[in-house]
Amino acid sequence: MNLLELDRVGKSYHRGGWFGKGERVPAVVEVTLTIPESSSIGLIGRSGAGKSTLGRIILGLEQPDSGTIRYRGKKMQTFTGGDWREFRREVQVVFQNALGSVNPRWPAMDIIAEPLRNFDDLTDSQLRRKIDFLLAMVGLEPSDADKYPHQFSGGQLQRICIARALALQPRLVILDEAVSSLDMLIQAQALRLLRRLQQQTGIAYLFVSHDIRIVAGFCDQVAVMHQGRITSTATDLSEAKEADDPILRQLARAVLPAWPEGWTHAENP
Ligand SMILES: Nc1ncnc2c1ncn2[C@@H]1O[C@H](COP(=O)(O)OP(=O)(O)OP(=O)(O)O)[C@@H](O)[C@H]1O
Ligand SMILES: [Mg+2]
Repeated sequence: MNLLELDRVGKSYHRGGWFGKGERVPAVVEVTLTIPESSSIGLIGRSGAGKSTLGRIILGLEQPDSGTIRYRGKKMQTFTGGDWREFRREVQVVFQNALGSVNPRWPAMDIIAEPLRNFDDLTDSQLRRKIDFLLAMVGLEPSDADKYPHQFSGGQLQRICIARALALQPRLVILDEAVSSLDMLIQAQALRLLRRLQQQTGIAYLFVSHDIRIVAGFCDQVAVMHQGRITSTATDLSEAKEADDPILRQLARAVLPAWPEGWTHAENP
């Protein structure tokens, strides 16, 4: 079954100008995308291509101007309060900026516990056990529960955000550059964890990244976004693991900035 279906979704923003006279700049243009259950869909593209905007639209944090989005067959535009509550439980997100997505005055314990407190009726000891389990799952210690965000490294804090996103056993997690700031070892560990969870629980991922190698290694399908549009998709990535693979090279071209007008590749180091 398809978890999420986007049909010609569009969104533009006002840019500059006084009293709404500024032009409208399209950020997402006619995007049609399907996320099946238990899939890993990669989304790559240059900076400003519209990837995060698309992520925020899927999460319901922003309203699209056009098109429809269905979550488990139901149009999100017609969601009731109860539907939204279920959606908020089942669809989670990890942003790149871990520090900006946690309350700096809360210890890790409360950061991870927040969704559990909102949705589950756990006793204190059940909550504590669950938090220890989640901390261990992302490679942290039970004693880390009492530390505050500033006492963690960027990578550790990112793992706390991953633990928080996984706390409610979601159906879909949007990972917006979520592993980009982790060092290679921790990154590989986090990816293995995400993969294992997928095998165990059938979770789906929308994996936004600049790192083509990671996307190719992790995702079943990759969509390339350019100026708000999905310009191409690649589905068979199983063979595309070598750096000189043509699919990887094509994906690399899609995320690298264009050379300035009149330059040739030879002039660049
Ligand atoms: N709240 C906003 N108001 C106005 N313009 C916005 C807003 N959010 C995004 N944009 C514009 O929409 C376009 C797409 O931005 P978006 O953040 O989705 O890109 P991105 O692909 O995630 O880039 P990056 O790889 O740098 O994270 C950009 O031109 C950006 O300036
Ligand atoms: Mg972004």
